[in-house]
Parts: sequence; structure tokens; C-alpha cells
Amino acid sequence: MSEITIALGKGRLESFTLQTFEKSGIEFPDFTEDSRKLIFNDRDHIYQIVLVKASDVPTYVEKGAADIGIVGKDTLEESGADVFEVLDLGFGRCKFAVAGLPGETYDSSSKLTVASKYPKVAKDYYHKKGVSIETIKLNGSVELAPLIGLSDVIVDIVETGKTLKENGLVVLEDISEISARLIVNKASFKTKTDRIHWFIDEMSKAVEQETV
Ligand code: PRP
Repeated sequence: MSEITIALGKGRLESFTLQTFEKSGIEFPDFTEDSRKLIFNDRDHIYQIVLVKASDVPTYVEKGAADIGIVGKDTLEESGADVFEVLDLGFGRCKFAVAGLPGETYDSSSKLTVASKYPKVAKDYYHKKGVSIETIKLNGSVELAPLIGLSDVIVDIVETGKTLKENGLVVLEDISEISARLIVNKASFKTKTDRIHWFIDEMSKAVEQETV
């Protein structure tokens, strides 16, 4: 059995992590981009990578099924998982924002309805402002909601702003910055300190090299 398990969502995070390992001389001989395998071990069976659905990464790490995870801050915030967030990997940059029709203003006489793929993020944001809202959980095409009267506004990710623009919506309020984060299970952080610190350092160096 491997000593350290790392949970990754498929896609860009996956190749970045594998490249980082490679630079440190750790190879995963079975790994290929098009493989359908879900578990990969390095040659020395110290590290094990498990490929999971991105939104499940915080669950694997919180429960200790994985020691380390790499996940977008958006998914992490929405999960509310009790884990250590140890490193900002700097890629996958975008932001959470409230968006709606231009000039949309909050009418305090009625409850604000907010459609989002991230109802917890939406609730937390408005709670801090002291505004009580009704959230409507959607799974995609969130921009549609204010256009056809399902909600007053949306809380969503804005990357280029293209989706909002093409649908006649605007950012009404910025909420927070998002990027990929390295997370660690709280117990593993204490019991597997050396290996975990080594991994954090290697990832940290790789991030610095990317940004130079
Ligand atoms: C995300 C997000 C926005 C869009 C923002 O949706 O929910 O709709 O990307 O990107 P932009 O600012 O660069 O336009 P996604 O592409 O995941 O599609 P979905 O609507 O199916 O969730």
C-alpha cells in the first residue's frame, strides 16, 4: 500500500501534478492521458494518485481516503470541507461574482432570489452582508435564470466575462478570487509530516517556475 494518496480531478490539474512529479524524478509508469484507470502508483509505491470527480476531491480528503487533494477554490468553498488549505497553485484563475441585468437593485421589501451552482457560497456571502435570500440550485446555464425571471440575480464564476456579455448580463458585485488549491487531510498533516511537506515544497517550486 502506498504511503500518500493524492486525489485529483481529471483535466489540467492532473497533467500539472504529473509533470511536477516527473520533474522531481517520480514516475507513474501506468499513467497515460487517455487511460480509463482510476488509480496510479509510482514506481516505488510511495505515492498513489486517484482520479475522482473534481467536486468530490474535498470529500476524499476530509474523510482521509486521500491525504492530499488538488481542487478549485470554488469547489472547496462550496463543499465546506474541514481540511487544511496549504497552497495557492495560481492556475485556473477566475472569480465569484453576483451578476444580473444592468441596474438590478436590491429591493428590501421582498426576498432576493439568487440562482447558483454554488448555493452555499451565495448564502455565506449574503449572510455576511445581513441580507436574507432564497437560493435556487442550478447545475449549469445559470445565466438564463435572471433572463427569464427564475431569479433576481446569480452567483457564479466569471472567467473571461464572455458568457455574461453574450447574455446581456453584468457583474453587480465581486465576491472573491478563485484558483486551484492544494488541500491536506488534518490528521495526515500530523502523521505524515515529512512526505507531505516534501510534496508541498515540490508543488510550490513548480508554481514559482510557472509564474517566472
Ligand atoms: C462557467 C460559469 C459561467 C462561465 C464563465 O460555466 O458557470 O457560465 O463558465 O466563463 P466566462 O466568464 O469565461 O464566460 P461552464 O462553462 O462550466 O458551463 P455550465 O453553464 O454548463 O456550468
